[in-house]
Amino acid sequence: MKNYLITKAIEEALNKQVNREFYSAYLYLAMSSYFESMNLGGFAHWMRVQSGEESAHAMKIFKYISERGGSAELSAIEAPKARGGSAGKVFEEVFAHEQKVTGMINALVELAIREKDHATFEMLQWFVREQVEEEKQASDILAQIRMVGDTQGHLIYIDRHVGKRE
Ligand SMILES: [Fe+2]
Ligand SMILES: [Fe+2]
Repeated sequence: MKNYLITKAIEEALNKQVNREFYSAYLYLAMSSYFESMNLGGFAHWMRVQSGEESAHAMKIFKYISERGGSAELSAIEAPKARGGSAGKVFEEVFAHEQKVTGMINALVELAIREKDHATFEMLQWFVREQVEEEKQASDILAQIRMVGDTQGHLIYIDRHVGKRE
């Protein structure tokens, strides 16, 4: 039996976030599949890289829960809805999704403060910074799509550019 260094409330909230990060990974994989079907291989690649990052986010929290004596639990991952519409529509959704995730991270930070859990607070600061990056990335690409025009023929340049993401 390990000693709990996190409260049950924190453990439960972090486990929920693990699930949401995996859901994000699923969502971006679904978007990758959509871009493949649109013959926009660069965007599809970008989405796969993004999906990998979301899995890494999930794993970061997953490991942290155990490190603090909690029990990391996996729950069913919601299936993302089928995609449609234009590249611009998809990136509007990415931006909105990341803003929603930022709200979740902020709520976790507030919980850590209420629980006086400084270690969890500190761990979450990485996610606070990461969300700034994630929102910026999504809004930059969305702005570029709006600049060139949200039709497939105009997206070739951006497709090449985002296809270089490592
Ligand atoms: Fe994430
Ligand atoms: Fe994200």
